Amino acid sequence: MQMSDTFEKMDAYLEQSLLRADPLLEKIAENSRKEGLVPHAVTPLQAEFLALLIRLIDAKRVLEIGCLGGYSAVAMARAMSNDAYILTTEIDTRTAAVAQANIDQSGFGDRIELRIGPAMQALDDEIAAGSVFDFVFIDADKVNHKNYLEKALQLTRPGAVIVADNIVRGGGVLDADSEDNSIRGIREMLAFAQTLQGVEQTAMQTVGAKGYDGMALFRVTG
Ligand code: DHB
Ligand code: MG
Repeated sequence: MQMSDTFEKMDAYLEQSLLRADPLLEKIAENSRKEGLVPHAVTPLQAEFLALLIRLIDAKRVLEIGCLGGYSAVAMARAMSNDAYILTTEIDTRTAAVAQANIDQSGFGDRIELRIGPAMQALDDEIAAGSVFDFVFIDADKVNHKNYLEKALQLTRPGAVIVADNIVRGGGVLDADSEDNSIRGIREMLAFAQTLQGVEQTAMQTVGAKGYDGMALFRVTG
């Protein structure tokens, strides 16, 4: 048996053991699949991990960089109180239309603002407006991972948490000479992280339904 089979089976087993039936997120996943979106959304267990972090710090304002079909945005919105706010960005207009429909159907549309366009533009606009967020999920084009982290740090307060997805990419990130722009982007982010002060940071490698990858975790202290 391939290890990847085991990862997938284990993911399914953990999901079955720990998570309840979730018609809301299942519907979004199914709709996203039907609409032909890339299968890059977080897994159910990962969505619950983000939700749990949000509840731990009682985040009221969440910034998501990279919406895709709205799966993680809805999972996070659901973890928050009624007065909470999520800003999520999506560069692809067709993807954004699918996401907006999913968000509208979810019943959490009043908490989620989907900003269509380049994430960098949204981040610069939010910085200019003096916005502050409690939690940031970086999950857009990996080429800009470092730039997104840099902007996220400008948009957060002490105590805020930043999570960056896809920092392992099957181990491809080990290759310092890679010509893959996504891998280069992740490596730039990790090199930048090394220079940071006023941040507590770690990473978790993950295996599961989406193969071998990982997330970096940052807590802003100063
Ligand atoms: C890719 C992007 C993601 O956000 C993800 O979780 C997995 C893969 C990708 O672009 O390959
Ligand atoms: Mg991702």
